[in-house]
Amino acid sequence: MKILVSGKGGVGKTSISAMLSLIFSRNGYNVLALDTDSVPNLASSLGIHIGEAEKIVPLAKNDKLAEERTGARPGEGWGILFSLTPSVDDIADKYGVKINDRLKLVVVGSIDMSKEGCLCPAIALAKAFLIHVMTRSREVIIVDAEAGAEVFGRGLAEKFDLNITVSEPTIKSLVIARKLIRMADELGIRNNILVVNKVTDELMVARSIKKVFNDEKVCYHIVRYDPEVVKLEMLGEGLDKLSPNSIFFKDVHSLYEKILKLKRK
Ligand SMILES: Nc1ncnc2c1ncn2[C@@H]1O[C@H](COP(=O)(O)OP(=O)(O)O)[C@@H](O)[C@H]1O
Ligand SMILES: [Mg+2]
Repeated sequence: MKILVSGKGGVGKTSISAMLSLIFSRNGYNVLALDTDSVPNLASSLGIHIGEAEKIVPLAKNDKLAEERTGARPGEGWGILFSLTPSVDDIADKYGVKINDRLKLVVVGSIDMSKEGCLCPAIALAKAFLIHVMTRSREVIIVDAEAGAEVFGRGLAEKFDLNITVSEPTIKSLVIARKLIRMADELGIRNNILVVNKVTDELMVARSIKKVFNDEKVCYHIVRYDPEVVKLEMLGEGLDKLSPNSIFFKDVHSLYEKILKLKRK
């Protein structure tokens, strides 16, 4: 099962990705969580201490590893020289950060070459890794991705079984979410779930969705606003510390149950 978590900045992608990863792993699934944000912070939501999290070098910025795997040195006309099929088999094992016995995190970083302004060996390596892991792995893979990111590009997008687009409960945010869901659909991702996060008024959400999606069918899931999530964030603690009785935990747990039903289909 390969899950893409998409949406614009600040809507709760990282929080949902982290909570889902923790829940899947606690229920006996082997999980690989991948952070492809240009400002990666999934590690700290998974409970890695800020000081430690800052030390993790994203794959897409790891020039040393890229040089080792592609033979290309930055500044040496490497745009042309580096090997396009670097070996990436061992990357999850060697560079993955262990969160618990069943959950590993790989900080990939942004693989958007246009945004990063280069055709760097490190980005090529990160991309090769993503494609490889998405093709081969039998684990649950959860990708925390920036909106409009390269993971939506051909070659990667079609490998996902499920796209979860996270939105805030505002009309503006839902309009963006609708675009992302259409895009995911066009790219061939069969299952889409709209997660409306930080909800305080569920009736209002139902109305807003009707307004924005009209007759378009959309499977949506509500995650309520939870002050406990904010509190942990303030303290710099991860969601591993969140009580199973909290609102956020319960709502993401029922999302997890929804995903399992998809899996059985
Ligand atoms: N259900 C929720 N209730 C309260 N706060 C939330 C909830 N979901 C996310 N947040 C908060 O919203 C902010 C943005 O969340 P984050 O997961 O970092 O978003 P993104 O990864 O999409 O940028 C964080 O401060 C997070 O703690
Ligand atoms: Mg994020």
